[in-house]
Amino acid sequence: MKTVSIRSRLIDLLSTSLVMVALVSFGIIFLFLQYKVNKHFDDALLSEARNIINRLYVQEKEIHFKVPELGINLQTASGKGSVFYAIEDDYKTIISGFEALPRPLLNKRINDITFYDDIYAGEKIRALLVMHKMYRNTLPYHATIIVAETLEDRNAMIQEIFIAISGVTCMIIFIVIAVSLVAVNKGLEPLMSLQHFIQKRDIHDLTPIDERSVPKEVLSLVESINHLFIKLKKSFSHIEHFNADVSHQLRTPLAELKVLLQMDTWLQQSQKKDQYMTIIDTMAHTTQQLLMYAKTNPDAFDRLRLKPLNLCELCEKIAMAKVPFIYAQGFEFAYEAPKELWINGGPIILESLLQNLLDNALHYARSIDSKPMGMITLSLTEENKHAILKVSDEGPGIAEEYLEQVCERFFRVDTKKHGSGLGLGIVKHIAELHNASMHLSNRSPHGLEVSIRFPLVSQ
Ligand SMILES: Nc1ncnc2c1ncn2[C@@H]1O[C@H](COP(=O)(O)OP(=O)(O)OP(=O)(O)O)[C@@H](O)[C@H]1O
Ligand SMILES: [Mg+2]
Repeated sequence: MKTVSIRSRLIDLLSTSLVMVALVSFGIIFLFLQYKVNKHFDDALLSEARNIINRLYVQEKEIHFKVPELGINLQTASGKGSVFYAIEDDYKTIISGFEALPRPLLNKRINDITFYDDIYAGEKIRALLVMHKMYRNTLPYHATIIVAETLEDRNAMIQEIFIAISGVTCMIIFIVIAVSLVAVNKGLEPLMSLQHFIQKRDIHDLTPIDERSVPKEVLSLVESINHLFIKLKKSFSHIEHFNADVSHQLRTPLAELKVLLQMDTWLQQSQKKDQYMTIIDTMAHTTQQLLMYAKTNPDAFDRLRLKPLNLCELCEKIAMAKVPFIYAQGFEFAYEAPKELWINGGPIILESLLQNLLDNALHYARSIDSKPMGMITLSLTEENKHAILKVSDEGPGIAEEYLEQVCERFFRVDTKKHGSGLGLGIVKHIAELHNASMHLSNRSPHGLEVSIRFPLVSQ
């Protein structure tokens, strides 16, 4: 499904409605302007007609027109258009003015004052017909006055005002769009900060989102997410407890079985005694490894348990505890580390990481006849704000084609050897929990080196 951004939807909606409003207002403004300008020019035409009426008089039973001394101005105010007039008496005789000026259409009702549009000499005109009644010696005389003008002045004025108003309207619309953009961005700020907050969170972090800083509109969504987090946390802790219970329930009878077998006098003489013991030890070890593998699952582990610790101190403690056993097995041992390297870590799981790596070296750095091969080295160095932990041995190493696979659970290169195939998987889990990268490589001339790169924290 296509994802829709609220921001672009709001902007789309706002800009389309603004454009619609602008178009409608342009139409209304234009009609109103046309009406007002026409009214203004029509009033001017009427006063023109009144001027003419004022100059009409009756003499010897005939209507006469007294032409002004400066004559009649036959141009509009701007000088671009033309003005026409005609005065007729009762017998439709032109007393003064232009012949054949058009009259209102026959279907148009003629009042004392009638405005109409027409065409004269090939040009559009606006005309006014005024019927005027005069009395002389109680006798009525009728005069018809037609005043007309071409439309240049009117159109020029409409155009000028319309352009000015449109410019201002466009500016206002532009400002409104800019303000709306800012308002949309401002309004969506809490949502954006919620998005950044969720993006920045560790994907394994299941602590609830702070509901106080969340806008009302998404509160119920955040509440649902928080419920989901709580449910997930519960189910992870349920799995963890279940694993611990299973491991405990299996370990106890296995330990009891081992004691029983050791005490069994009949079995003491049996050749299968060692075989039984090995099977029991393997089962106990596998149970232990399975529990640790499940516990360190990066999707379930609560990283809030990790606290700043001195990795050097922890390694030294484990090395000191392990070294008598290493020597007893016939290996040499080297430990190199500075005094302090602080990382965010969990001491118990880090101990398991080191145990697994050292156990592997003890177990696999052996010749075909199971003799210990050379030296086991545990080292810590600092490099580009990272602590590099290395466990290396001088055994046969791992064939290059298996180097990628050995961290997969239950993968073992040599299935004849005892092992559950979970040790390196556990190491990988623990490295991942610490945001550390893990790298396996064969050494020259032989041996395996496992290096883990932990990000340092300031102390
Ligand atoms: N230092 C090493 N030298 C040579 N081979 C190794 C070394 N470490 C591990 N391997 C190989 O990698 C395989 C996987 O090791 P891993 O620790 O995951 O499992 P395991 O040792 O078989 O079982 P577990 O550690 O759970 O008891 C081993 O079976 C072994 O063949
Ligand atoms: Mg192992």
